[in-house]
Amino acid sequence: MIATHPEVDTILSVPPAPRTHVTIRGLTKSFAGAPLYTNFNLDLPRGKIVSIFGPNGCGKSTLMNMVAGLIPLDAGEILFDGKSLADTTIGYVFQNYRDALFPWLSAYDNIAYPLRRGGMKEAEVKARVDELIALFEIRFDLKRYPYELSGGQQQTVCIMRALAPRPEVMFLDEPFSALDFEMTLFIREKLQEAHQATGVTMVIVSHDLEDAVFLADQILLLTRRPTRIAEIVPFDLPRPRTPESVSDPRFVSVKARTLEVFRREMAA
Ligand SMILES: Nc1ncnc2c1ncn2[C@@H]1O[C@H](COP(=O)(O)OP(=O)(O)O)[C@@H](O)[C@H]1O
Ligand SMILES: [Mg+2]
Repeated sequence: MIATHPEVDTILSVPPAPRTHVTIRGLTKSFAGAPLYTNFNLDLPRGKIVSIFGPNGCGKSTLMNMVAGLIPLDAGEILFDGKSLADTTIGYVFQNYRDALFPWLSAYDNIAYPLRRGGMKEAEVKARVDELIALFEIRFDLKRYPYELSGGQQQTVCIMRALAPRPEVMFLDEPFSALDFEMTLFIREKLQEAHQATGVTMVIVSHDLEDAVFLADQILLLTRRPTRIAEIVPFDLPRPRTPESVSDPRFVSVKARTLEVFRREMAA
C-alpha cells in the first residue's frame, strides 16, 4: 500500500509490538469540539490483562468503548490481530450490572442469549452454559430472574454472558465499582480463573488503585484530557494471585509506582 494521506503515514509508522492482539493507531476523538484523544497509539498484548487507570473523566470508558465498537472514532484505526471488529468476537461487561441484564429473561436465558442469537443449537447452548456453571462454581438457581439475585450474582451472570461466545477480547468497565468487598474478592478470583482457563485478552477499566493492580499484567496510566499515555507499568507477580497478594512487596511497590505517576499527572 502506498501511503498518500498523513493519517495513513502515522498509522504505518508505528509497527505493532510482538504478541500484540489489539492495535490502536491514530485514534482521534473530540466531544463538542473539545479534543479527548489526538493521534493516540496503543498496543494491547495477546492473552494478558490490561487495567486502564487514570483521573475521573480522562476518557477510560470512552477509550474502551471505542475499541469495543460502541462509540465511533473521529479518525484512526483499531485492528484485532489485523482483523476488523466485525470479524472478531468480543465480550463486554457494562459498568452498571443493574441495567445490563435483560430483566425479562432468567439468568440462564441471559447467559444463553448471545449463543442463541448466534444461531447455536439448544444442546450446544446447554453444554456451553454448563461449562460456565462449572467454571464459576455456580450454586444459585439460574432459572431465577435478575431482580431475584444479589448484586454479586447479577455481576457473575453478566461476566458469564460475556464469556459465553468464547470472546477473543473481553472488556470490563469498572466491574467492581458497585460490589461490596466480599463480592469484589469473589469476582476478582472468578475473573482470574476465567482468564487462566481461556487465555482471553482482558481490558479492565478501574478507578480503584488496588483493583487496577490486582489482576493486571500491565497498568495503563492515562493523563488528564487531552489524554495521552502517562506510563505503562508492568506487573508480573505470578498467578494465581490471592487476597494475600496485596501485601506482597512486589504488589506494594507496583501500587506505589502507579500512585506516584497518578499524583504526578494530577499535579501537571
Ligand atoms: N457522549 C458524550 N458527550 C459529550 N462528552 C462526553 C461524552 N462521553 C464522554 N464525554 C466526556 O469525555 C470525557 C471522558 O469521559 P469518560 O470516558 O466517561 O471518562 P472516564 O471513564 O475516564 O471517567 C469526559 O470529560 C466526559 O465528560
Ligand atoms: Mg468511566
